[in-house]
Amino acid sequence: MSFDVGAVRGQFPILSEIIDGKPVHYLDNGASAQTPNAVLDAVRTYETTGRANVLRGVHRLAERATDAYENARVEVATFLGVAPMEIVFTGGCTAAINLVAYSYGSLLKPGDRILLSELEHHSNIVPWQLLRSRAGIEIDMIPVTVDGRIDLDKLPGLLTPRTKLISLAHVSNVTGALIDVGAVVAAAKSVGARVMLDGAQKAPHGPIDLPSLGVDFYVFAGHKAYGPNGIGVLWAKAELLDAMPPFMGGGSMIGRVTFAETTWAPAPRRFEAGTPPIGPAIGLGAACKWMRALDWTGAHAHEMTMVQHLMDGLQKIDGARIFGPAGLQNRYPVVSFMLDGVHPHDVAQTLDSFGVAVRAGHHCAQPLMDRFDLDGTTRVSMAPYNSRGDIDALLTGVRHAAKTLR
Ligand code: ALA
Repeated sequence: MSFDVGAVRGQFPILSEIIDGKPVHYLDNGASAQTPNAVLDAVRTYETTGRANVLRGVHRLAERATDAYENARVEVATFLGVAPMEIVFTGGCTAAINLVAYSYGSLLKPGDRILLSELEHHSNIVPWQLLRSRAGIEIDMIPVTVDGRIDLDKLPGLLTPRTKLISLAHVSNVTGALIDVGAVVAAAKSVGARVMLDGAQKAPHGPIDLPSLGVDFYVFAGHKAYGPNGIGVLWAKAELLDAMPPFMGGGSMIGRVTFAETTWAPAPRRFEAGTPPIGPAIGLGAACKWMRALDWTGAHAHEMTMVQHLMDGLQKIDGARIFGPAGLQNRYPVVSFMLDGVHPHDVAQTLDSFGVAVRAGHHCAQPLMDRFDLDGTTRVSMAPYNSRGDIDALLTGVRHAAKTLR
């Protein structure tokens, strides 16, 4: 049976809204995806039938809340094919990377090296620069190819015996390029380096089997994966979490506190100081369950059909140029383009007047923009609920921008 995009759309109430007389053609999923009823219902159930703090109280509501919170951890772990005790809930994907940079980073020595790429999101650059200032580590950078992929041919020449961690985007938030994880892990092993993947743009496209990838750290954001805002995930191998010191101190993350000395709780609690984002975690658990139930073979084929339709349409518009991989191989449904002579923000504003939401600008990837001497791009980022009608509305808007703004 073919993928039923209408049935998926029907689960997302916002997609049938009419805003200022226009339908919602939501193509900014790379920034934040929309939320299905399953997630809204799970959060509402917690708020209305089980709201309390977790891991503290002995009353029934506290037990309900704790069960729901820990069940969310199980859902996220199942989505990633790992053990629940290896899942740390954080405030977001950025918070998860900062946790690793601070905590794992504190185990590094001056002169140790971290390898990033030129297309990383700022959230996978700046935390390492902060670590460099604090701890005297060095940062190396893998360049990108002309079609916006991390140039893995350059990887072996950048590895040194001091390279401790390679931290890369699993899927680029600008070009949609998927990295060859196997090649990165094999290269990392040759010098004993760890590998972290920023899965912010990959997790929203279905379950991931982390053990088969062979990486050491994985992070992603709830709000891009159909869950609530204010929640993110860090997964790390248990042996790594056990060796890492806490990032933040407070309630819940301790074993025993005295003024003379404090001991830490085991992971993951050691990394979840204070009251965690309980409702958002429960919502993310529901989002992971919702994603596991989706037909991803059909969804991915549908997404790629939409990418092809978009590329074909853009190619017919005078002055439109796609930035990123030209084909459908090893890519996800994020497509950046430029319209010669028109600023990306003006393209995005014109699109908004057609009811189409996209992101324009540097996409928190200024080094990548610098490499190609770009002010920015207009980015179309899709989810399984996007329809041909969304892409057609976008193409109508781009044609209008090409006619009226140049
Ligand atoms: N990281 C988000 C994006 O790429 C905000 O749009």
